[in-house]
Amino acid sequence: MSNNPISAEQTKREEDLVRTVIASFDKTADPRLKEIMQKLVQHLHNFVRDIRLSESEWEKMIEFLTAVGNITDDRRQEFILLSDVLGISMQTVAVNNEAFGTATEATVFGPFFVNDAPLIDIGGDIAGDAPGQPCWVEGTVSDTEGNPIGGARIEVWEADDDGFYDVQYTDGRVAGRAHLYSDPDGNYSFWGLTPTPYPIPHDGPVGMMLEATSRSPMRASHLHFMVTAPHRRKLVTHIFVAGDELLSSDSVFGVKESLIKHFHYQAGDVVTPDGRDLGGHPWSRVRFDIILAPE
Ligand code: BEZ
Ligand code: FE
Repeated sequence: MSNNPISAEQTKREEDLVRTVIASFDKTADPRLKEIMQKLVQHLHNFVRDIRLSESEWEKMIEFLTAVGNITDDRRQEFILLSDVLGISMQTVAVNNEAFGTATEATVFGPFFVNDAPLIDIGGDIAGDAPGQPCWVEGTVSDTEGNPIGGARIEVWEADDDGFYDVQYTDGRVAGRAHLYSDPDGNYSFWGLTPTPYPIPHDGPVGMMLEATSRSPMRASHLHFMVTAPHRRKLVTHIFVAGDELLSSDSVFGVKESLIKHFHYQAGDVVTPDGRDLGGHPWSRVRFDIILAPE
């Protein structure tokens, strides 16, 4: 790092290069692609010039991105993980899910959604044989004027008590995920598991970057939702557990105040809402009313 002032001649050379590279995209036929490429060049050059990037740092950066590419395959997407821990995924969610009245806030999608999760009835169980404390989840789906939305498709998925999603099990069994539909009055309910914290995959280059910067890979405890209904904006979100100490340090910046919910602890002798016999084990319950914005 040098503190020498940058001479007028040096500044001119650097600025000339930025202008030349930007101009190289002038003939791009697609106006959006042109805008993206020219702005990208502008911002990247600003970054290099601002931090006075050394040649060995440039090499390290290339090595890092190469490692991110090398570990990425059909099952592991380290580039998305990198985007997640840099807050780029959440910024993209923010830009594309503009605030609309009382509509429920969106958050990061994550890598553990699976198409074709089992269909359950209202009040059914998504946990399967995933270990954890049973949790009764209930609420409504409505529009921003308060009209109930019947027939909304609600996808839910979550990690088990050991911090694993079923797709991380080695035996291929399905657990901790399902989909259901709201009833004509917009009501839904299901049995899940009280969410517990878990780390994002951190055995690769993104994990090394977190370690080198004294950041934790832990995600705040959460339960994923994806809710769709005709003429409504698709909602991808989670609910978080009030009181979780990780709420302020979620590794992918997914926490929103409005998505923090009270999971009420119930002792084993408390009767369950649907009469389910939990063998005297404690359980919890939470309410999540979902409000969908127009498309
Ligand atoms: C998740 O919540 O499932 C997740 C989100 C971002 C990165 C890794 C996991
Ligand atoms: Fe998750």
